[in-house]
Formats: sequence, C-alpha cells, structure tokens
Amino acid sequence: MNFDNTDIRTVCQKVLNDNWRWGYTIPSSGMYPHQWLWDSCFTAIGLRHFNTERARQELMSLARGQWRNGMLPNIIFASDARYHQDREVWKSSINPNSPNGIATTGITQPPMLAEAVVRVGEKLTPAEKQDWYKRMYPVLVDYHQWLYAERDPHDEGLVLQVHPYETGLDNTPPMIAEIFEHHQPWWTSVLRFVPAEKMINFFRRDLKHIPSTDRMSNTEVLLYYDIIKRLKRKRYDIERVLPHAKILFEDLTFNCILIRANKHLQDIAQAINRPLSLYLIEKMQKAESAIDSLWDPYQEEYFSRNFITHQHTKITTLACLMPLYSGAIRQERAKAIVKKLHDHDTFDVSFPVPSVPVNSKWFHEHKYWQGPTWLNTNWLIIQGLKQYGFNSEAGRLINSSLQLVRDHGPYEYFSPLDGSPSGARNFSWTAALAIDLFEETSY
Ligand code: GLC
Repeated sequence: MNFDNTDIRTVCQKVLNDNWRWGYTIPSSGMYPHQWLWDSCFTAIGLRHFNTERARQELMSLARGQWRNGMLPNIIFASDARYHQDREVWKSSINPNSPNGIATTGITQPPMLAEAVVRVGEKLTPAEKQDWYKRMYPVLVDYHQWLYAERDPHDEGLVLQVHPYETGLDNTPPMIAEIFEHHQPWWTSVLRFVPAEKMINFFRRDLKHIPSTDRMSNTEVLLYYDIIKRLKRKRYDIERVLPHAKILFEDLTFNCILIRANKHLQDIAQAINRPLSLYLIEKMQKAESAIDSLWDPYQEEYFSRNFITHQHTKITTLACLMPLYSGAIRQERAKAIVKKLHDHDTFDVSFPVPSVPVNSKWFHEHKYWQGPTWLNTNWLIIQGLKQYGFNSEAGRLINSSLQLVRDHGPYEYFSPLDGSPSGARNFSWTAALAIDLFEETSY
C-alpha cells in the first residue's frame, strides 16, 4: 500500500465514513457490527478534526445505552434480526436498570468518555462548548458515580472489573493467567477429551475473518463465555455477583484511565459551574493515591491486582506503562516507566509499543493483546509521555504509529517486529487516532 500524509487522511476519513451507521461508528464491518464504548470515544477524537457534529453524535449515542444505575455498557447491540444471537447471549433486559428497548451487555469498558468529551469540546466555539458540556455532564456524573458506588466495595479508591472484556485488553496475559489459576469450571477438563474444535469455530465470528493463530483460543473464549453466563445468572446485579465471583480484577489500565477521566470531569463541572458531590470528590482524591498500592517496589513496576486474593498480577504488559496517562504518579516513577520504553529487550522494538514485551514467554507477534502494537494504547502512552515532558519519546512514538498506517492502512493491530498488519482491516479507532496524531504533527 504506502500512503503519503494527505492520502492517510483521505483513507482514514473514508474508513470512518464507511463505518458510520446513522448515529454511531462500528469498529469494522463484518467482525464488529455493534457500537462499542471505548471505540466510540477514540473514534470521536478523530472525527472532531473534520466533523464536530458527527463527533458529538457519536458520544451522545452512547448515552442511549446508559443504564438507570449509571453504567455505560461496553456494547450497544445493533437491532438487525441477524444479530439476535449476540443480544440473547447477554439478554440485558433481565436487569431492571437496563434501558428500555435497547439491547446491551451487562458490563462496561475503560472510562474514556470524559477525555473524548473534552477533546471534542476543544474544537467547538465557547457557546457550543458550554452546551456540549451541559449535555454530557449528567451522563458522566452518573457513570463515575456508578463506578465508585458499585465497583469500589471496599472503598479502596480503585474500581474492580467483573470480566476481562471490561479492561478492553481482552486476552491480556495477566487476565488469562489469573483465570486459568482461579476459574476452572468442571467442563474444562472434559474439553481436553472432546474434539469440539470444529463445532466451536463454527460459532466464532472473528475466525470467519482472521486466522485462529491471531485470536483467542477456544478454551479462552469458552472460559470468558462461562463468566458471562455466571454474571447473567445473577442478572448483572453487583450485590449478587460479588459474593460468588471466583475472579475479579483491579485493572491498571482501567483505573489509570478513570483517574484521568476524573480530572476531566472536574474541569467540565467547573466550566459549567455545576459542583460535583462531596462523595465523588472524595472518591476522586482517594483514587489518585490508591494507584500507589499497585506499585511493586521489588520489580519497580505497576501491576494490576486480583481483587479477591489482593495479589499483584506480576506479568509485565503495556498496562505497566499506563500510569503515565493517569498523571497521578511522581516524576521519578514516570522516569522509571520511560526507561522501560528504551529497553531493547522489552518494549523498544521496530514498531513499538508491543502489548507484551518481546522477551516475554507470552509474546506472540500477531496474537491480539499478547504481542501486537495497537494504535489506541500507543495514543494513551503518547498523551502520558507528553504530560510528563517526554516530548521526544512522544514524537518518536507518533511517527512510528503513523508509519504503520501509512505502510499498511488502518488495520486493527500490527506486528511490533516488522509492522505487518493483522486483525480487522478498515478499523475505526486506528483510522481516527491516525488522523488525530497526524494533526498533532502538522502544525
Ligand atoms: C475487542 C477489543 C476491544 C474492542 C472491541 C471492538 O474486543 O479487545 O478493546 O473494544 O474489540 O473493537
């Protein structure tokens, strides 16, 4: 392929136009036919550069899926008859808080909404921005309120995740390792003796588009499905889920994104002169210091934590770099993180940042969240680097990220070793964030 800078913008805008479904953008046609929460946030961050009206619609359409308790679901399902099965897997209507007549999942995804609202606001006139903030403020307040009320039961300042899908990094090694250790339903032993591969493959939409070596294994998919079934049995009611859950996470990426989102929400509240509740303010303050409890002084790294065992999940992945994005760590810790980015054995490869260090036993060049480089996590790391003044590192990462899209087009993910593309082609957040990064370099 190989595009120049003008071409990149045209190609990426076309992808976003083609993936537009009258109100929101799907991640890619065929494989991801619904609206996803953090995808729409990243997409709006790109859309704002050429169509602020559509960027606003993208985010407002997330509000139609908001539950009465404030939860924003990770997927709002398309209403086509052909996706009946997807809606049935979750059957969100079994929870009285689910929105009327709109099918969603019963779980959330990293809280990127406040960032997206602010980024879109940057492109509006002062009067439009006031209206925009006023429109989105209640959605954000209810969401953050829900996160703390339901997902921080021990008042730790960190929120927990009930399914790996909530982290957005679906099969990231720490989640897989914890699940294999703590969540082994009886049927997993049976599976070893039953030739079920062909039958399971038949039901997987992703394998109709992508080679199985690049995706999650069938056992992993079934284990993830098993967790959904357990959540569904409890009607996604956290009071009933918590006492029986075998696996709950305090995910580093999720919590870092929430900490930064809290700051954005405070800015929005101030801009429209609507004070936040004392409850939220206290929770937000606690969150900033709670991130310290995820630091491991021996490995000198931040890790996610298993909520039940309270043990750090000591497997290095790109999540360990995310505290940069939170903005809540000391400069000296930020420096320790940036040192890792310079390490040739781990993250400093031809096309950084690999989702898992290249010297890890988990590393697979093309396997989803177990190796490939993704544009959205690069974007988060870039914002973090800039926040701590590491501008040349940020510049290098912007260039290598754009190079991937220039060389191959906006694929879902890329090999960190030679840049070869994998996953879905014409992927919305890659297109949107390439536009955003391109804009950053072109003034
Ligand atoms: C996969 C990704 C998730 C994303 C979704 C839609 O599940 O892991 O982060 O939101 O696809 O693109």
